[in-house]
Amino acid sequence: MRTVEWDQGVVKMIDQTLLPHQEIILEYRDHREVATAIKEMRVRGAPAIGATAAFGMALASLNSRATTREAWLGELEAAAQTLNATRPTAVNLFWATARMLRVARQGQASDVVALKELLIAEAQRIADEDVAINRRMGRNGAALIEDGYNILTHCNAGALATVDYGTTLGVIRAAHEEGKHIHVYVDETRPFLQGARLTAWELHRDGIPLTLITDNMAGYFMSQGKVDIVLVGADRVAANGDVANKIGTYSLAVLAQENGVPFYPVVPTSTIDLNIASGKDIPIEQRNAREVTHIRDLPIAPEGVPVANPAFDVSPHRYVTGIITEQGIVYPPFGPGLRRVKELAERHEP
Ligand code: MRU
Repeated sequence: MRTVEWDQGVVKMIDQTLLPHQEIILEYRDHREVATAIKEMRVRGAPAIGATAAFGMALASLNSRATTREAWLGELEAAAQTLNATRPTAVNLFWATARMLRVARQGQASDVVALKELLIAEAQRIADEDVAINRRMGRNGAALIEDGYNILTHCNAGALATVDYGTTLGVIRAAHEEGKHIHVYVDETRPFLQGARLTAWELHRDGIPLTLITDNMAGYFMSQGKVDIVLVGADRVAANGDVANKIGTYSLAVLAQENGVPFYPVVPTSTIDLNIASGKDIPIEQRNAREVTHIRDLPIAPEGVPVANPAFDVSPHRYVTGIITEQGIVYPPFGPGLRRVKELAERHEP
């Protein structure tokens, strides 16, 4: 099954908060429930959040009782606001709701029933494109992976973070499918443990050799010459090539440079935000203290201690070797290259 899918007016997704111990499929019929699922990280990962928000917009459209185009559009705009208010860092969310609104406004159909069909089709297109994009990105990135490579990754930028196949894990899967013998160091990724729970689960199921490590072991393995390349995902890439990704990615970027290890984010062009000049303007989500003080329901800190929980950090572009996209790999200086791949991708969008 895909991470998120549309099934006759129902949005279905696997509950990522319960993996790897329980595989439960959630079903939503209202866009407000979908928004809550995104906020609670039942679905997470920038491209998966984007596709889910698109399906949320399709639900809002389908459930609308509006009889005029104007009233229907008003309801969709309100739904976009609800969905956009869930997680601030992943730009794919805003990209997807904006694309759905654009299709709604441009829709040529005469009546609301036909317009609703247009929106369902567009959400499905976003989901299908995501899978195709990941496969292309996978092939592009696999060209960098040599037989025998040890790859280090952080968080989960896999099938679960997308509609299917994954961005970073897409590159890893493509290299594996090409017959290359690779091995992956998987950072556990505190505090939400996406590496230990989700990336380890995906790789293990696919039979791709891995070693799970705690985040603070990454420098040790790099200093021992055990890591050939660092591959990570991204939630937003600024116009200058600064990369926002899961908290802890910045430490990896600095460690990689210190140890002469190439550092490549793997990102669909929908994650590139040319409206943001540099990483310092990327909004960083602050999440609740309980994710830090507890592992699931187990308390690990004294009750009432002050806690910080920024969910993302920014790796300045000077640490980035290259950015792998579905339109090719962009190298420094990043500005012109990012503009070019974005333009190439936008030629296919509505
Ligand atoms: O908080 P999350 O789990 O949504 O964070 C996910 C990441 O940081 C991923 O690396 C990023 O979204 C890219 S997913 C292909």
